[in-house]
Amino acid sequence: MSAYPQMRLRRLRRTDWMRRMIAETHLTPADLILTTIVSDAGPDRVDIPSLPGVQRLSIKALVEQAQNAADLGIPAMAIFPNISDSDKTEDAAEAANPKGLVPEAVRAIKAAVPDIGVVVDVALDPYTNHGHDGLMEGETILNDPTVEMLAKVGVMLADAGADIVAPSDMMDGRIEAVRQGLDDAGHTDVAILSYAAKFASGFYGPYRDAIGTSAALKGDKRTYQMNPANIDVALREVELDLIEGADMVMVKPGMPYLDVISAIKAEFSRPTFAFQVSGEYAMMKAAGANGWLDYDRIMMEALLSFKRAGCDGILTYAAIEVAERLKNAGV
Ligand code: PBG
Repeated sequence: MSAYPQMRLRRLRRTDWMRRMIAETHLTPADLILTTIVSDAGPDRVDIPSLPGVQRLSIKALVEQAQNAADLGIPAMAIFPNISDSDKTEDAAEAANPKGLVPEAVRAIKAAVPDIGVVVDVALDPYTNHGHDGLMEGETILNDPTVEMLAKVGVMLADAGADIVAPSDMMDGRIEAVRQGLDDAGHTDVAILSYAAKFASGFYGPYRDAIGTSAALKGDKRTYQMNPANIDVALREVELDLIEGADMVMVKPGMPYLDVISAIKAEFSRPTFAFQVSGEYAMMKAAGANGWLDYDRIMMEALLSFKRAGCDGILTYAAIEVAERLKNAGV
């Protein structure tokens, strides 16, 4: 076996072409799922202070963004709703309204931009007046009644044309219920992307501002989202979701949980996604705006780290700007 001084690993780092030639992982626009916020009130575009560069969009502006993303080679987009306070209730009834904001947005995108995939989040938190992902009785988040409702919401969104439904609530048994609901309604081709390993994280702050739940949220989500200290149970959540019928699984947040992504990919070899959540994006933007870090560079490095960890794709608020940069670089 050769060793230094015959073997010199720096030989293969000498030039740009050499570094490109031996790169083990690559980032392309096809790795990105654009994360968007749609709003049912106000002007077409409204800045979100804690999420610089991201705006709450009207359906019209969302369709324009969908076209933009499709033109850049981004395969899919995920939609999150900012619902007017007057439509938020204890029972989240608006979540199941077939004429609601999300199904209308899905229909509009599918009509105008048929070749972008549409991912819809299935959870109740944008629609509850307490900001939780489940129905409540007193202080308790009710599992089974929530699951029943999620299955209905999933079917309604598939009826509207969603290609992928993504339950993000962390109730037990919801993947099986959603799959059953979809199949019974004839939506056998609609895929499920499960937020299988979702942690009770401080990194969701800006998202809760964006969809207007941060003021309302009572308590925290630790009785359903996972403890950041744990990895064994993350593998168990993924295993159960796959058994229940998930086509793809997701880890959320992303960068603080690269070990979880890597373990899941190694164990199950299934399509595995990461959600680069609002707080990850916002802290990079903030450091960039302060001149402390080179934003473009660290965003690329962060996204590449997901690929290296084994991800098949990344949900990110930065999808459009990153795809533009990749295009300019000839990727
Ligand atoms: C909840 C949901 C959350 C996000 C997506 N769906 C936050 C939460 O659990 O409170 C976070 C997304 C982000 O931070 O970018 N159903």
